[in-house]
Amino acid sequence: MVELTPSFMLEYESLDKDHQHLADIVNQIIRAIDDDEAEKCEGLVGEFVKSAKDHFANEETLLVNVGYPNVKKHQDHHKGLNIKMDHMIEFAKMAGENQMARDSLRKELVFFLMDDVITADMEFKNFIEEKAKTDKA
Ligand SMILES: [Fe+2]
Ligand SMILES: [Fe+2]
Repeated sequence: MVELTPSFMLEYESLDKDHQHLADIVNQIIRAIDDDEAEKCEGLVGEFVKSAKDHFANEETLLVNVGYPNVKKHQDHHKGLNIKMDHMIEFAKMAGENQMARDSLRKELVFFLMDDVITADMEFKNFIEEKAKTDKA
């Protein structure tokens, strides 16, 4: 199971909610695999990919709105993840009958969420925190 500890929070409600939602779907997928219900993976991974893409769009809009200087770099980072999501969809299709696909899917998903989605966002965490403080002051 993946759990978002406080150090992984951006302290920005809409983004933290999105990340939590993605973590919830990953946990559902892990549970489906552990419970021998891997045929559920395809639908769940579809939901994960859609939610991830929606999240990336929300996040990019927010970064533009707060004037984050490296938006382009983060957008490119998100774009670079499309290929990984395509792989996950392929693994999910095979997950019902293939142990290796199940193992790969689980590994890829956890890595994707923790490293590519959440850790990568730490780059702009300070910026939006400072921004929130100055907006309040
Ligand atoms: Fe994010
Ligand atoms: Fe991001």
